[in-house]
Amino acid sequence: MSGAVTSVPGMRAAYASATKPDEPLAALTVGDQPEPAPPAGWVTVDVRASTLNHHELWSLRGVGLPADRLPMILGCDASGVDPDGNEVVLHSVVEDPSDPRGFSLLSERHPGTLAERVAVPAANLVPKPAGISFLDAACLPTAWLTAWHMLTTRGRVADADAVLVQGAGGGVASAAVILAAALGKRVYATSRDATKRDRIATLGATALEPGARLPERVGVVIESVGAPTFEHSLKCSAPGARIVVCGATGGPFPKIDLRRVFMMQLEILGSTMGTAAELASLMDFLVEQNVRPVIDSTYGFTAVGEAFARLNSGEVFGKVAIDHLH
Ligand SMILES: NC(=O)c1ccc[n+]([C@@H]2O[C@H](COP(=O)([O-])OP(=O)(O)OC[C@H]3O[C@@H](n4cnc5c(N)ncnc54)[C@H](OP(=O)(O)O)[C@@H]3O)[C@@H](O)[C@H]2O)c1
Repeated sequence: MSGAVTSVPGMRAAYASATKPDEPLAALTVGDQPEPAPPAGWVTVDVRASTLNHHELWSLRGVGLPADRLPMILGCDASGVDPDGNEVVLHSVVEDPSDPRGFSLLSERHPGTLAERVAVPAANLVPKPAGISFLDAACLPTAWLTAWHMLTTRGRVADADAVLVQGAGGGVASAAVILAAALGKRVYATSRDATKRDRIATLGATALEPGARLPERVGVVIESVGAPTFEHSLKCSAPGARIVVCGATGGPFPKIDLRRVFMMQLEILGSTMGTAAELASLMDFLVEQNVRPVIDSTYGFTAVGEAFARLNSGEVFGKVAIDHLH
């Protein structure tokens, strides 16, 4: 991290001042950025807590963040307080006809959440239940919403008895393990790391080494790793299973035996984020089940650079959180 402090007056923020494909942390700057200037229909939220996602590392590498959008305040996730004093969680998906997907995430085209304040469309404010803390709520808008959408909407997990989660130490994957277990499914989860496997086992899953044989085939696979695990995902799938893919951290070009896809009538489904209504239903589910996110570590905003280094270490288990009041 450069740690360079700019002289522009405004609010403190963590932002991409450059993009560095091989050295993402060197593209991160912590310093002042201009205050939000919300257009009509948008509101400014005082951020109380945020969390980091792998998305921030992709942005610093220049993936999805071209140079003409720099500097860009990073961060997709936040909880905070709206101008009327309501405690809210931000839905990070902003409608955007100019983007080929029809939307962008905060920090891709509009400044992100790693700042004292962030502007979002009013429709992107979701009430935060009183029983969920600001820090826990800030874990939800990307990793947890993605896992929830993958399991329920895309994976139709209600029709499955067993779920496999690959690379289970990550933010999305650990959320998927916890949610699938809370939904009453038998959960198998792989991780490359023995310590993470020990922790996964405490979350209600059978923890396995990557590529290990499962005692049964599963109805839903949660894939965020890609090339290193995809062949295993195919082999572990029961007839008619859904392999739901939200990312390719380990590489986007897996080896696929198409005979297995058609003979087993498998569905390979892409998945991105989820809706604001799904974010609300996720929070209701967490309150009902008394389930809370796993937080790997919490940093004050003054130590945001250390939080990025922690995320980049690959040792993270669960979410890296930022307390914006410190
Ligand atoms: N489409 C969407 O809406 C969406 C939303 C969120 C995230 N994503 C994507 O999903 C991926 C995960 O995001 P995240 O924020 O959860 O990331 P993260 O917290 O950094 O976790 C990444 C996990 O992937 C596993 N992994 C990484 N490299 C691997 C490799 N070479 N071989 C095997 N496993 C590997 C690791 O699991 P182990 O160490 O346990 O093996 C690691 O914990 C990212 O690519 C991200 O861009 C997409």
